Amino acid sequence: MRTLMRELVVVTGASGGIGAAICWRLHADGYGVIAQYGVSHERARALGERIRRDGGFFEAIACDLSSPDGPSTVTQAVQAMLGANRDHTLRGLVNNAAKLLGPAFGEATVDQFDDYMAVNVRAPFFLSQGLAPLMPPGGSIVNISSASAHFSSPGDIVYAMTKSALESLTRNMAEAIAPAGLRVNAVVPGFTDNGHPAFQNPAAQEYMSSFSVLGGVADPDVVAEAVSFLISDRARRTTGTVLDVTGGSTLGARHRRASSVRALLPDT
Ligand SMILES: NC(=O)c1ccc[n+]([C@@H]2O[C@H](COP(=O)([O-])OP(=O)(O)OC[C@H]3O[C@@H](n4cnc5c(N)ncnc54)[C@H](OP(=O)(O)O)[C@@H]3O)[C@@H](O)[C@H]2O)c1
Repeated sequence: MRTLMRELVVVTGASGGIGAAICWRLHADGYGVIAQYGVSHERARALGERIRRDGGFFEAIACDLSSPDGPSTVTQAVQAMLGANRDHTLRGLVNNAAKLLGPAFGEATVDQFDDYMAVNVRAPFFLSQGLAPLMPPGGSIVNISSASAHFSSPGDIVYAMTKSALESLTRNMAEAIAPAGLRVNAVVPGFTDNGHPAFQNPAAQEYMSSFSVLGGVADPDVVAEAVSFLISDRARRTTGTVLDVTGGSTLGARHRRASSVRALLPDT
């Protein structure tokens, strides 16, 4: 009996709001999903059940990416899956897992700093280093950055720094993996409703909406759509870039802020 040839994509942080939407979208695009997550077993299990029930390929890897061994644990598990499914190939990697917002400049401890760097920067670096050699030409890596890398966000300074580093990794890695026929890009989301209770809080909602010139916050499908494009051959000439889906949050404009200082000055 002939087995179905499948292209697989590894998605980290698959148990989170955006990660689950990315997995579902890649499944809808026809890819098999290898989903990494940390501790949210029930969310990962429910996602896997949904994708398999819809006829898709789904395998999960539970792993702590703050540990130095985390990325190699994932790489070895992916190698084993490819070995057991000889008709499957590795199409891509989405570095989506992250520790979110915080800590502030005056409060950050050395341990917190190292933990953010480990999950948000070191893990994507070594996952990419480990998994890129397993991808045939045409493979694609997508790093999920954040609008916070593009404006001052002192209350979230360490998080923001990790996302700047991730975008630097994107630019530098693009040239390193190009000879193998591989691409890497970043997606830059603004506030995106990941299911956290903050998105139901009116004051928090108003604050988050004030960042986008279009108003409101995004739903996770917005990020998944950008990932779908960058993983696919539709983006075959796109590498080393960032795709901004922040709704204009990085333009510097804010709700209630004048469009120019000139608007505040009397006519001359
Ligand atoms: N939501 C937003 O407004 C927003 C805005 C800009 C950028 N982003 C970016 O979008 C991406 C997804 O965020 P999200 O909103 O979906 O967040 P989320 O719902 O909190 O999900 C975070 C994911 O990362 C995983 N994770 C965190 N620490 C981990 C660790 N030590 N080891 C392994 N896995 C770990 C979590 O797994 P477990 O829960 O299973 O441990 C979870 O799957 C992140 O890169 C984030 O920076 C989000």
